[in-house]
Amino acid sequence: MTEITRDVVVIGAGAAGLTAANELKKAGLSVAVLEARDRVGGRLWTDVIDGAMLEIGGQWVSPDQDALKDTLAELGLETYDRYREGDSVYIGQDGVLTRFTGEIFPVKPDTEKVIVELIEKLDAMVALVDPDRPWESPDAEALDSISFEEWLKQQTDDTEARENIALFIAGAMLTKPAHAFSTLQALLMAASAGSFSNLVDADFILDARVVGGLQQVPLLLAERLGDDVHLNAPVRTLRWNDEGVTAEAEGVTVHARRVIIALAPVLYNRISFVPALPRRQHQMHQHISMGFVIKVHAVYDRPFWREQGLSGTAFSPYELSHEAYDNTNHGDERGTLVGFVSDKNADGVFALSAEERKERILESLSHYYGPEAKNPVVYYESDWGSEEWTRGAYAASFDLGGLHRYGADLRTPVGPISFACSDMAGAGYQHVDGAIRMGRLAAERIVAEEHALIGAQA
Ligand code: FDA
Repeated sequence: MTEITRDVVVIGAGAAGLTAANELKKAGLSVAVLEARDRVGGRLWTDVIDGAMLEIGGQWVSPDQDALKDTLAELGLETYDRYREGDSVYIGQDGVLTRFTGEIFPVKPDTEKVIVELIEKLDAMVALVDPDRPWESPDAEALDSISFEEWLKQQTDDTEARENIALFIAGAMLTKPAHAFSTLQALLMAASAGSFSNLVDADFILDARVVGGLQQVPLLLAERLGDDVHLNAPVRTLRWNDEGVTAEAEGVTVHARRVIIALAPVLYNRISFVPALPRRQHQMHQHISMGFVIKVHAVYDRPFWREQGLSGTAFSPYELSHEAYDNTNHGDERGTLVGFVSDKNADGVFALSAEERKERILESLSHYYGPEAKNPVVYYESDWGSEEWTRGAYAASFDLGGLHRYGADLRTPVGPISFACSDMAGAGYQHVDGAIRMGRLAAERIVAEEHALIGAQA
């Protein structure tokens, strides 16, 4: 058992924890990062599966994500655009496939009018939401007390319009059914990306990828920390008082003045806090849960859909894979499609055998791209739900009513304990950009307090 003393111990070597540790080190504080897994990156994981490089976790960068873009530039990483030449496809309520360009799905004119009006209405509501303080928005409590599904039902009888609007937040972002989260939570999701229109615009929200994979961000950040990162070190117990903390991980114990807990809030209860966290935290953390989505990777000998003039972008609230994209790697001759199977659909296919699940998912992709989609040379499902140290995808959100009740306390430190994670961000919420912002914020607070302490002692 190694026993060390540092100024700050960081629990979790994801984008948030590694950003925080680097910022603290730059400010002259000593750090130790304790990571449960045998790798860094958490929900960022670029791996080679059967000869194909796959982004098993997060991958896309959007133009508004300044914190992530700064980090990419600082680390010398390059980006490339997602392939988007040609027509997108949409499968409607009637099962008919239509090719289209632009953002609005090709639905009948009445439905299109309702969709456009709803987007305008949501944009106006989102404009009043500060993503760092959604609980202060007008009517926050009322909006947090009604599910997004119910709110949409109050707006229109047009089910196809409702299902399309719900898709952008439910299946595509929070990865929970629209009855399971509030309208305020939906507005936060949109506000964190700048507007509801930005979420609808796949060319904005899924704009660019990193050459060589997004896991390079945590890998390079960890490289700068060297031996200060301890892998295979799940923290089991955190002892704390006003003087400092002791983090007891497998194989290593760290004594420090402060700790940053940089994990998804659903995992806090894996750590025994001695003494226990305050009542407020106990209650709050029980109102947060992970979404659930399967990210499906299908690699083909060539991007055959491009020969049909298709961009690879595909949507349907009525398909098992509700959205899919051309995910071909930079400079790769082979073509890769990525599809997503969300929440209840994911539950459904996980009740099947692996073979049957693959068949059903590829069948769904073939509805968009034709029968060739059924025969990839590499097939892989990212299943974060079964990962002990994540337990879902993409991220965590409050249940109905939780955001206005507890949101303001989510990032509030408790004694020497600070919290950082993408799942508590304002801008960049649930994204790598948000993880970096939260890592910076936690580090900034600690540095300011440490400087104030030194000033007081001098
Ligand atoms: P993260 O969960 O990454 O890190 C927490 C770390 O803590 C993990 O390494 C974990 O092992 C460790 N840990 C947990 N318990 C511990 C314990 N007791 N002791 C020690 N260590 C412990 N984002 C984006 O910007 N663009 C995208 O395209 C996507 N797409 C996407 C797809 C998929 C499939 C997923 C799963 C996620 C995305 N995301 C995304 C979201 C993005 O990946 C995510 O928001 C951030 O990577 C989260 O970073 P954090 O550091 O906050 O948590």
